[in-house]
Amino acid sequence: MRGKNFKKLVAGVMGAAMTLSAPASAVNAVAPAGLQLTNNKTAASSEGKVVYECGFESEADLEHWSNRGGDDKTVLSISADAAKSGDSGLAATERGDTWHGPAFRMDGFLEPDTQYYFSCSVRGQWYTNTTLSFQFSVDGDTSYSNLRQNIQATSGGGNSWAEVKNVPISYSEGMEGVYVYFEGGQESIYIDDVKITEAPRVEIESDLPSLSEIYKDKFKIGTALSPEDMSSQPFMDLLQKHFGESITVGNQMKPDYVLNKTKTLEYFEETGDDVTPQISFSQAKPVLNYARKYGIPVRVHTLVWHSQTPEWFFKEDYDEKKDYVSPDKMKKRMENYIKSYFTTLKELYPDVNFYACDVVNEAWTDDGKPREAGHCGQSNNYAASDWVAVFGDNSFIDYAFEYARKYAPEGCKLYYNDYNEYMTGKLSAVCEMAERIKEAGNIDGIGMQSHLDVRQSLDAAFPSLSMYESALKKYTSLGLDVQITELDATVQEHSDDKYYDVQAKYYKGLFDLYEKYSDKISAVVFWGITDHKSWRASQNPLIFDKEYMAKPAFKSIVDGKTASDPVRTTIAGGSTAATTTTTTVTTTSETTTTTTSETTTSTTTSTDTNTTTTTTVTGELPVTLAGDANVDGQVDMGDAVLIMQCLANPNKYDVNGTDEHHITVQGKVNADVDKESEGLTTNDALCIQEYLLGKIKSFF
Ligand code: GLA
Repeated sequence: MRGKNFKKLVAGVMGAAMTLSAPASAVNAVAPAGLQLTNNKTAASSEGKVVYECGFESEADLEHWSNRGGDDKTVLSISADAAKSGDSGLAATERGDTWHGPAFRMDGFLEPDTQYYFSCSVRGQWYTNTTLSFQFSVDGDTSYSNLRQNIQATSGGGNSWAEVKNVPISYSEGMEGVYVYFEGGQESIYIDDVKITEAPRVEIESDLPSLSEIYKDKFKIGTALSPEDMSSQPFMDLLQKHFGESITVGNQMKPDYVLNKTKTLEYFEETGDDVTPQISFSQAKPVLNYARKYGIPVRVHTLVWHSQTPEWFFKEDYDEKKDYVSPDKMKKRMENYIKSYFTTLKELYPDVNFYACDVVNEAWTDDGKPREAGHCGQSNNYAASDWVAVFGDNSFIDYAFEYARKYAPEGCKLYYNDYNEYMTGKLSAVCEMAERIKEAGNIDGIGMQSHLDVRQSLDAAFPSLSMYESALKKYTSLGLDVQITELDATVQEHSDDKYYDVQAKYYKGLFDLYEKYSDKISAVVFWGITDHKSWRASQNPLIFDKEYMAKPAFKSIVDGKTASDPVRTTIAGGSTAATTTTTTVTTTSETTTTTTSETTTSTTTSTDTNTTTTTTVTGELPVTLAGDANVDGQVDMGDAVLIMQCLANPNKYDVNGTDEHHITVQGKVNADVDKESEGLTTNDALCIQEYLLGKIKSFF
C-alpha cells in the first residue's frame, strides 16, 4: 500500500540488527579517533590522554595481563622473540585452543563509561589470523564480541607485524571481568607496544538552550539509551543537557533480553513447574544504574510483544520444537513473568522511578486486525505473533494489562504502544481496545511511537501533519494520557543534509501539535539522539547530527522559546539538583545567538527565524514507474527478484538492509503493484511476472 511507513512493517526484525538493537557490547560505539569536526563551535583535542603504554621490557609489565582462565593454560612471558621495539615483548605460548590467549583486564584499571582507543603491534609464531575480542560479565552471565577480525599476524621472523590501531574499547558500570584479548589459531601470539588512550573530548554546543527545560512545564523530554551508547562522552553530554527527563532502555528490557532460558529450564527441572519463567535484568543494568545515579525516570519497554521474544516461552517444556502451550498455561506463564518482572525491578531498583510501562507493543496490524499466528522472525513471517498463535486472537492484551496493573510499582502508568498509529484501521482498533481496558481500570495511556517519514518534501511526508494530528486528537480524547514514545522523522536516505530544512519544518509542526495537546501529553521521547546511532541512520531522522551538532530540526523546536538551563548534578540516593539560568534563543539559518540572564523571564523573543509553521499537508511519495522495484528505469525480472529477497530477508534487503542492493523507499512504493494485498507481498512479484509474460497489460 503506497504512502505507508514501510520501515515499521519490519521494525521488529530490523530492530535486532540496528544500532539501538545491538546486544550489550560496549564497543565500537563512537566516532573513531581523529574525529573531524566541520563546525568550529565544537572542537576535539587532537589526541586523548595516554593512560597505558607498555613495551614489555620487564616482568612488572605483565601486570593487567593474564591467560583467559579455566582450561586456558597459555603461558605469558617477557620474551625477546616478541620484540617489535626494545629488547622484548609479550609472548603468549603453549596455547591449547583457538580461544586461548593473552587478555588485558580493563575493569579496575580503566574507568567505566569512558571511551578509550587500543593500539598495539601483534604477530603470530607462524601464520596466525588473529582476532581482537572483548568479554564482560554481568551478574554471572558472560558475553563476548569481536572487536577486530582478520588481523593478519603472519609468520615469525622478519618484520611481519600487524598494527592494531585505535580500536574503540569501553565498558559500563556494573560489568565485571572485562577483558580485551587476542585469540585465533593455536600458535604462539606475540604482542608489543601496547598503547591505550582516552578518546579525545568533544565539546557539545554550550550556547544551546536545554530542550527538556524549554518544554518542562508541558511534558518530559527523553530518549532511548542502550549500554553501547554510554561510553560516548558527547552523546551522554547531550542526553544530560537535553533529554534527561525520561529514559527508555533501547533493547535490554525486552522479553528477548529479560527472559532467561537457562535459568528457566533449570527451575523447570528442579521443580517440575513449567509456568514460572525465570528472568534477569543483567543486560539492562548499565542503563538502569545510570538512571538511578542521575534520578532519571524510566519508561519500561516492553512486556508483551510479538517481536524480540523467544519462541521457547510459548512452547511445551520451553522447547521451540514442541507444540504451543494452551491459552490457560500461557496465561499463567504471562502472569508469573509480569509478576517477577515488576517484583525484581522493585527489589533491585527501589529508588528508580519506573513511571511508565509499555505493557503491550504493536499488537494490531495497520488495518486493525490481530497479527497472523506464528513466530516472528521466520522468513516471510516477520510480522507474525506467537501470542496470537497461542490465544487465537488478541485476547491476550486484556490479560497483560490486568496482570500489569496487579504487579506494577506504584505510580507506574500503563500504556499500549504502537507504530503507524495514524492508520485508520489500527486507530479504531486501538481506541476500541483502550476504551474496553480503561473500563476495567487497567490502562492509563497510549504510546504513539511516531517513527515518521519526512522524505524530501512536506508534500511527500508520511504521515502528513494533519493526518498525525487527527490521530493525536482521537487518542487524547479517550480520557487517557498520551506519550510520544519513539520519535524520529526520516529524510530521504543518503541525502545528507539536503532536506534538513524540510525536516525542521516537520519537527516544528509536530512540536506545535504537542504543545497544542500538551495537557494530555506527559512525555515526548526520541528514539535516540544523534543520526549516526539511529536504527534508521541512513535517513538521518534525529535532531543532532553525527558530529553532535544541533540540526535545523533542533533549532526549529527551540526557536523563540525561553528556558531555564539546568546543570544536572548527581545526588546520592538518585535525586537530581539543578541550578538554573535563563536562556532565550534566536536562530537563523546561519547562526545561533543566545542571551543568558539569571532570572526566569517569560519573554518570547521574536525571531528572524528560518522556520515556517506548516500545518495541513497531504500527499504521498508518487510512483515513478509501477513495478520498478530497483528503480533502474525499467520493469524486468530483477524487480520481482528484489521483492522476493526483500520479503525473505528483510535484514538484508528491506529499506534499511545491509546489502548494498537493498530496496529503497521509492522502490518499495513502485513495487506495490498488487492493490488487493496490503504492503509488499509475493503477489507484487507475481504481478510483475505476469506483466512480463504479457498476461496482464498494466498494473492498475
Ligand atoms: C519498535 C520498537 C522499539 C525498537 C524500534 C526500532 O518501534 O517498539 O523497541 O525496536 O522498533 O529500533
